[in-house]
Amino acid sequence: MTNRPVVVNLKAVVGSLKEMLRRAIPQNIALTTQLDDSSSEVSMYPGQIEQVIMSLVLNSSDAMPNGGQLTIETRNIELDETFAEIHKTLQPGPHVMIAVSDTGTGMDKATQQKMFEPFCTTKGSARETGPGLSTAYGIVRQSGGDIQAYSEAGHGTTVKIYLPQVERAASRSRLATPVPAGRGTERILVVDDSAAIANAVKRVLGLVGYTVLTAASGPDALQLLARRDGPVHLAMTDLLMPGMSGVELGKQVAQVHPGIKVLYTSGYTSGYVRQHGLLGQGVHFIEKPYSFSTLTNKVREVLNS
Ligand SMILES: Nc1ncnc2c1ncn2[C@@H]1O[C@H](COP(=O)(O)OP(=O)(O)OP(=O)(O)O)[C@@H](O)[C@H]1O
Ligand SMILES: [Mg+2]
Repeated sequence: MTNRPVVVNLKAVVGSLKEMLRRAIPQNIALTTQLDDSSSEVSMYPGQIEQVIMSLVLNSSDAMPNGGQLTIETRNIELDETFAEIHKTLQPGPHVMIAVSDTGTGMDKATQQKMFEPFCTTKGSARETGPGLSTAYGIVRQSGGDIQAYSEAGHGTTVKIYLPQVERAASRSRLATPVPAGRGTERILVVDDSAAIANAVKRVLGLVGYTVLTAASGPDALQLLARRDGPVHLAMTDLLMPGMSGVELGKQVAQVHPGIKVLYTSGYTSGYVRQHGLLGQGVHFIEKPYSFSTLTNKVREVLNS
């Protein structure tokens, strides 16, 4: 009778796994957890979520041979259509996010593209390795969720898992109150090396009135701004891009076009981004992926600042 999905509270699962994980990873790795205050219930087969978290934690541990920081977060979030646009496998509604972040080696684009494939490993053939993440991927997809990695070589990794929350009357009533969108008519430049993300953001901001230009890199963005064929009020840039980083781009924009507001974005969780000094205090930041209202309200807030 145990081989059926059961309702598990992720906050409780991570809490009780922590001691075991602590013993499974080397002493020179600091392990911290940031768990959502409210309960986060999902429906999974017994033991599966533990297996997924364990596999992500071991990967992070492997990526930090000289020690570092490992963070596990759980958070309840409401996914909307904007989000589902980027994560084609997810349905809008209440979800739980689990994020495992490390300060390790990170991954290049080529490794990221195949990391969820069976037998993908960069750890050599001496070990029987490779199925870890493809198994985790299978489990998450079977549970109606999605898994996504954000990483850049040399900049650590954040892997985020989204799982549908077990439906409760309370979450339904929460859904019934739509959050109003921030609107505007300003011109916004969106800089992201992923064309899919840049276009999704463009579409959403276009829906609430903004005019949106896109650029695939820092140098492209600067070139576009130098042409000055119309004012740009806000530059929204990904933090970690191959070549020029978002931080570097932000600095140059501040120097050359001091009137333009800058909003940074990244798949790394905001706590992680600040903790590692990627951004200073008082800097505007929004974590990927965003829901419709989070994105439109943040953009309005930064433009008004
Ligand atoms: N947190 C991470 N940091 C850097 N690289 C990672 C991370 N997670 C996964 N990878 C990369 O993805 C590859 C695939 O991971 P996966 O867990 O499937 O296999 P593995 O860890 O090599 O072997 P195992 O089956 O023992 O887990 C890894 O070999 C590594 O290159
Ligand atoms: Mg692994």
